[in-house]
Amino acid sequence: MTTLFEPFTLKGVTLRNRIAVSPMCQYSAVDGVINDWHHVHLGGLARGGAGLVIVEATAVTPEGRITPACSGLWNDTQAAELAKAVKTIKAAGAVAGIQIGHAGRKASANRPWEGDDHIASDDPRGWEIIAPSAIAYGGGLSKVPREMTLAEIEGIKNAFVDSATRALASGFEWLELHFAHGYLAQSFLSKHSNQRTDAYGGSFENRSRFLRETLQAVRKVWPQNLPLTMRLGVIEYDGNDEETVAEAIELIKLLKADGLDFIDVSMGFSGGKANIPWGPAFLGPLAARVKNETGLPASTSWYISTPQQAEGLLRDGSVDLVMLGRPLLDEPHWPYRAAKELGVEKPSWILPPAYAHWLERYRAAA
Ligand SMILES: Cc1cc2nc3c(=O)[nH]c(=O)nc-3n(C[C@H](O)[C@H](O)[C@H](O)COP(=O)(O)O)c2cc1C
Repeated sequence: MTTLFEPFTLKGVTLRNRIAVSPMCQYSAVDGVINDWHHVHLGGLARGGAGLVIVEATAVTPEGRITPACSGLWNDTQAAELAKAVKTIKAAGAVAGIQIGHAGRKASANRPWEGDDHIASDDPRGWEIIAPSAIAYGGGLSKVPREMTLAEIEGIKNAFVDSATRALASGFEWLELHFAHGYLAQSFLSKHSNQRTDAYGGSFENRSRFLRETLQAVRKVWPQNLPLTMRLGVIEYDGNDEETVAEAIELIKLLKADGLDFIDVSMGFSGGKANIPWGPAFLGPLAARVKNETGLPASTSWYISTPQQAEGLLRDGSVDLVMLGRPLLDEPHWPYRAAKELGVEKPSWILPPAYAHWLERYRAAA
């Protein structure tokens, strides 16, 4: 038996294997409401055999969307459509998860294939952006955000709680807080983007306050028997990595005590010059360090492309799950192919009988 196809249990949730669909924005929603495209996309990924399907970064407020076409979870219409996605994902045998977040100073942008830059200030499709400090992200995201007031910080924390409550009502069983990739939460933590002089800036304790208070508040409404997870940018590759990684590990330990159940190790993308050592499964060793030093179950993504790489990371204990993105867009049935390549004998271990029954005969005869 491979490790990749061993079930994984966390709290009251069991995944059929160790393959998770990393959240991927589709930039195809209208007024934050997902639609038929998303149902096809998510259902296809679940049918392909992944154990966990995490719905894309879903904004907790309208202004928290990356683009006007990003999904949201600040009203009941959005929640109702997401509930349909949960049913579809479950029907295909996967657990349904969702990532909630706020894009902060990276919000109000054009879709990646339409520029990936901030929407022009005089364009009615855009909106005012907010962040811990009035510092632009840079590059195409050149708009200067407005520094958030304390009341706004409180409001966004409450919006996270409201979205978590709606996610639960929609049937999601795995909640991921998007605290990575230079979006709002990450930009509170990073010195690149946070130069506040109040209780939310300056010291490590202050820069991590927004993340801790948000998680603590969400934990109160998210049931104890369901995984509350987080994606965090643990490293920036900006030349100051030892300090950033040490702080991130310290923060994850604090969050663990606050009720965090699982950590997805990613990068900060907090602006400034980064020198990222792109390569096959390059975050694996860092994920292993985070897992070891925090004692939390962990995952990572980025260029885990082959079944053998995924199996290797799991087998050596670096991670508990692999989060795959583009390999699954390329090949939604990647898990099934992985099973074949890794020598898992029976398709019925991977796919529901409506497919597996035929494929077992087909494979036996071919
Ligand atoms: C189309 C697309 C959309 C993405 N959207 C999100 C997102 O909503 N939230 C997130 O945390 N990461 C997002 N990412 C990053 C992926 O989750 C993943 O970490 C990244 O693609 C690296 O994994 P891979 O090499 O397997 O693709 C996105 C990536 C792609 C390709």
